[in-house]
Amino acid sequence: MYDFAPTSGQTKAETYHDLVQAAGALIDGEPDPVANMANLAALMWQMLPTLNWAGFYRNVDGELVLGPFIGKPACIRIPFGAGVCGTAAATAHTQLVADVHAFPGHIACDGDSRSELVVPVIRDGKVIAVIDLDSPEMARFDEDDAQGIEQLAQTIAAAI
Ligand code: SME
Repeated sequence: MYDFAPTSGQTKAETYHDLVQAAGALIDGEPDPVANMANLAALMWQMLPTLNWAGFYRNVDGELVLGPFIGKPACIRIPFGAGVCGTAAATAHTQLVADVHAFPGHIACDGDSRSELVVPVIRDGKVIAVIDLDSPEMARFDEDDAQGIEQLAQTIAAAI
């Protein structure tokens, strides 16, 4: 059994430090990418408050395809350049979206989502996946979240 409950009263930096450590422990020695993404989605869901969706889209032949996640069933295929996820994949840059309704081309998978953070996972210079976090709270994510998830993306890039 793994129990990675967040510690109350932590700063975001402390939470992300613990999250990245726990992620490293979960993927250590495990070569199966699906198993690793499934556990990492569960870990983000467990350790980060106020999410309604947490998971992965993978780069499959130049298109984003749904990977392991926690949340409501979601759109399966997203072209590079489309929506928040496709923009992160096409630009290889983190997308921090305070209000999804203000993002041109946002793809609404869960009507509850109000803000979103999408971070590309880059391996050997190529975007191999994106990490997608959605929240029902407006402006739920800030630069600390972006940096924390970027650190997670670096830590797991070889394991997914
Ligand atoms: N909102 C995303 C689509 C994926 S769902 O949020 C799970 C987007 O605009 O790319």
